[in-house]
Order: sequence, then C-alpha cells, then structure tokens
Amino acid sequence: MNLLVCGGAGFIGSNFIHYMLEQYPDYRIVNFDKLTYAGNLENHRSVENDPRYAFVEGDITDLDSLNRVVAEKEITHIINFAAETHVDRSIHGGCRDFVLTNTLGVQMILDAARVNRVEKFVNVSTDEVYGSLALDDERRFTESTPIWPNMPYAAAKAGGDLMCNAYFVTHKVPVIVTHCSNNYGPYQFPEKVIPFFIFKLLKGEKVPVYGDGLNVRDWIHVKDHARALALLLRDGAPGEVYNIGADNERSNLELTKMILEIMGLGEDRIEYVTDRPGHDRRYSVDAGKIRALGWTPEYAREEFKRGLTETIEWYKNNSQWAEHLWQKKRDEMNKFQESLNRSDTQMAAAARG
Ligand SMILES: NC(=O)c1ccc[n+]([C@@H]2O[C@H](COP(=O)([O-])OP(=O)(O)OC[C@H]3O[C@@H](n4cnc5c(N)ncnc54)[C@H](O)[C@@H]3O)[C@@H](O)[C@H]2O)c1
Repeated sequence: MNLLVCGGAGFIGSNFIHYMLEQYPDYRIVNFDKLTYAGNLENHRSVENDPRYAFVEGDITDLDSLNRVVAEKEITHIINFAAETHVDRSIHGGCRDFVLTNTLGVQMILDAARVNRVEKFVNVSTDEVYGSLALDDERRFTESTPIWPNMPYAAAKAGGDLMCNAYFVTHKVPVIVTHCSNNYGPYQFPEKVIPFFIFKLLKGEKVPVYGDGLNVRDWIHVKDHARALALLLRDGAPGEVYNIGADNERSNLELTKMILEIMGLGEDRIEYVTDRPGHDRRYSVDAGKIRALGWTPEYAREEFKRGLTETIEWYKNNSQWAEHLWQKKRDEMNKFQESLNRSDTQMAAAARG
C-alpha cells in the first residue's frame, strides 16, 4: 500500500503514522501537511530517516499539489486527518479556515482520489457532527443518527462528510467516513484539555473547568483509534460510515478529578469558569458496526485510568517537546489568547447589557 496521510503532523495523524510503520513493514507512507500551528514535525524525529516515510509540505485545499503528490508517489490509498480542530478557536477566532480546510479541503481530496483512481480514501471525522444528547438520554449516536452539528468546527466537518457521501453516490469514489469520539494520548497539542490540564498542574496552576463540569465526553485512546483506522483501510466497505468509540463516557469533572488523583493533587486546584457558548452536553458513540469487523479497544472503560496514567507520564517525560512547541508557536498562541480575552470582555459587556 502506498498511503497518503493528510494532516500526519498533528496529534492523531502522528500516532497513526507511528502505528502503521510499526505494524506494516511493506507500506510506504507520505505525510502531506500544511504545518499550521498544530502541525509538528518533531513528532516524527524517530522515523524521518525511515526509507518508507516521506514528508511533503502542502495544503489540502490546493488540488494541484494533491494531484502532484498522488501521481508522483503512486498513491493507492488516502487517509485524511488534516483539519482545523480546536472548537474554542472556531468560536472565538473566526471559522473561515475551518470551513476551507474541513469542507473544501475534503472535496479537493475527493477530486484527487477520483481523478487518480485511488483504491480507498478514509476521511477521519468526529462524533461532534451528530450534535448533543441530554445527560439522561438513553440513546447513543449510531451511523444513522441524523447529522445536526452545533459547533462551527463540527458543522465544517459535517460539510466534508456530506461531500464524501455525494462523491461516493455520484462519482463512485471509494470513500469511508469515520465518526470518532474524543481521543487522548501522546503528541496532543497542549491547547486541548488533557495536555493543557497536565501542563498547568505541573506549573503549579489551577485548571479551568467549564460551567458545572457535567458535560460528558466518550474517551478513546489514540492507539485504539489508529488500530480501527488501519482495519477500515483494509476491510471497511466504501460508501459506509463507521462510528469509533470505546464505551467510556466521563464527565469533564470526573476526568479532571482522575487527573488530579493520578498526579497526587487535591480538588482545590479546580477553578470553575464561565461555560463555553453552545457547549454540547453529551456525546455517546455506539461503535457496534466496527466491533462487528473484529475491532475492540485495548483501553476499554476499565482501562481508562491506566491509559490516562501512561499519558500523564508521557507528557511529564516529554516536557521539552511541549516547551519547543510553545516557543515555536508562541506568536500564534498569543494571538489566540488575545482573541479569547477580547471575546470574554465582549461577552461580559453583553451580559451586563
Ligand atoms: N482529537 C480528537 O479528539 C478527535 C476526535 C475525533 C475526530 N478527530 C478528527 O481527527 C482529525 C485529526 O485530529 P487531531 O486532533 O490530530 O488534529 P490536530 O489539530 O492535532 O492536527 C491537524 C493537522 O492537520 C494539519 N492541517 C491543518 N490544515 C491543513 C490543510 N489545509 N492542509 C494540510 N494539512 C493541514 C495541521 O498542520 C495538523 O498537523 C481531525 O479531522 C479531527 O476532526 C479528532
């Protein structure tokens, strides 16, 4: 398999590439990434000299670059992780780039897959496209749950997913869409909740919990996600959607308390802050369809504490990785922090009337 991994310098893409190189000695992998603030080639220091791995800097909204790399590298399969992914940025920082990359970018990959007759394309998407469930709702998201996103990030992802369906039906592009729940593990950009909290706690700071802390997310270890995607690249049926999740629903407060307990810290380190606007209450994924193909998570619900402990250890042992990232991306992070502060001030002014 000659596999093009779009967005392979981000969190899940990096873990996926490491997994594939370990598991499939005869696959060749091309990592195609724009290197936005979230892309980090340091994640691939250990494989950059591997003859089976190559990096090409490029943007998935640029069809010519996509066509060139697919043709030159004789790509047979594509998997897409490239996206703007930070929900808070899609709310406070403007969401133009979200729509461009998450919707238009997917359409460009579909065109490249069609023109170059790629054998299979897996578009990695999110359970957030289904919208929100109430805490006491007994239903879970299945593949036939209507798509009804609430966040600009999720709406832009849903645009890409709908394009996949349209290209399968209209042009017979052999595409699969996945809807995965929240991932945790190594190499996650430290603006996302788990590494963000770990680094704040390591610095002696408090951690901000939105609202009442009872919003529920369904957590999956990134390695289990990588294993599921590898299976779908091989055995997934084109035109189908697959949910991926580890049956591991936890409230944000429960997650925070678990992190504090593992790090030997008390609940006095929690600071409750104003809730995120439109904050989805609960996500819950029914992953029965991919389980029927033979996949099960190695880090199931009862293994969550082990997975979280290993993850905390990884960030503690790789604090230099994060330090380099902060230094390189400081301008970008400061700009975003300013826009957050501005919108907090605006919201406070609006609340005062
Ligand atoms: N992180 C999660 O919990 C989670 C859960 C479910 C689904 N997903 C989906 O998985 C995918 C990967 O998520 P992640 O957390 O690894 O994201 P990330 O933000 O860590 O990485 C995104 C990567 O995409 C690259 N990129 C962005 N725009 C690009 C463009 N126009 N062209 C080429 N590359 C571009 C970035 O440089 C970065 O390397 C996303 O599609 C996301 O929606 C993530």
